[in-house]
Amino acid sequence: MEQPTWHGIELDAATALALLEWQAEMGVDEPVLDAPVDRFDLAAAPPPQIPLAPPAAPALALTGDDDLPARVAQAEALAAGAATLDALAAAQEAFDGIELKKGARNFCFADGNPGARVLILGEAPGDEEDRQGRPFVGRAGQLLDRMFDAIGLSRGAVDAEKALYITNVLTWRPPGNRDPQPDEIAMSLPFVRRHIDLAAPDVIVLMGNIACEAGLGRRGILRLRGNWVQAFGRPALPMTHPAYLLRNPPAKREAWADLLSLAARLEGAG
Ligand code: URA
Repeated sequence: MEQPTWHGIELDAATALALLEWQAEMGVDEPVLDAPVDRFDLAAAPPPQIPLAPPAAPALALTGDDDLPARVAQAEALAAGAATLDALAAAQEAFDGIELKKGARNFCFADGNPGARVLILGEAPGDEEDRQGRPFVGRAGQLLDRMFDAIGLSRGAVDAEKALYITNVLTWRPPGNRDPQPDEIAMSLPFVRRHIDLAAPDVIVLMGNIACEAGLGRRGILRLRGNWVQAFGRPALPMTHPAYLLRNPPAKREAWADLLSLAARLEGAG
């Protein structure tokens, strides 16, 4: 296979993939050529020879795992059978369909006040979350706490009006903090849906691309952020992930605008 290049520099596959993911995160979802094309001149020109390539995979393409439908069905049955959050946590922890379970240290279900009006849906546990078995307790989680504290919301609050409830799309840490795979998301979704039904928040914050993929079936957080949508049958606000804000501090200005939008919504004004 031909080695990919970027501005004339040869790239290995992992770097090329990382660059592509970075571009997708920045909202680049249409390929454009380096040099402009004069389309008025094209009529006379012979059609370009385009090599045949396999069709692009859809965003939520699943692996060729023949077992996957059965595993998803099992996850659905377990989730549907859970009448309380404690029962759901026990059922999800016992579910062996997801391979990540074998490599993770701790099951990471949720944190905060389950009665909160606001539920934050993140991506997956990282190293510190895996160690402690609680979502968003690493550096990104500390920034998340400061962000929501600025609008008077915290995971420690007893009062549901001021509280946060925090969970992730995945409850087991992906190795090396890689992105969750589509089949892992598919197996987790029945539990996430049930989790949200049982917690019954007034609003959901979709924190980053993976949460948007789970809740909306699409990515592109830099375009989605700040716009209220419906996800899991409830009003939802996509926001940029605090890990992204740690890498891109200027984006905190838009995150602040999103927090104010959330605060206004909770006040009944948004
Ligand atoms: N990032 C997430 O999306 N969730 C966590 O729990 C930690 C980091």
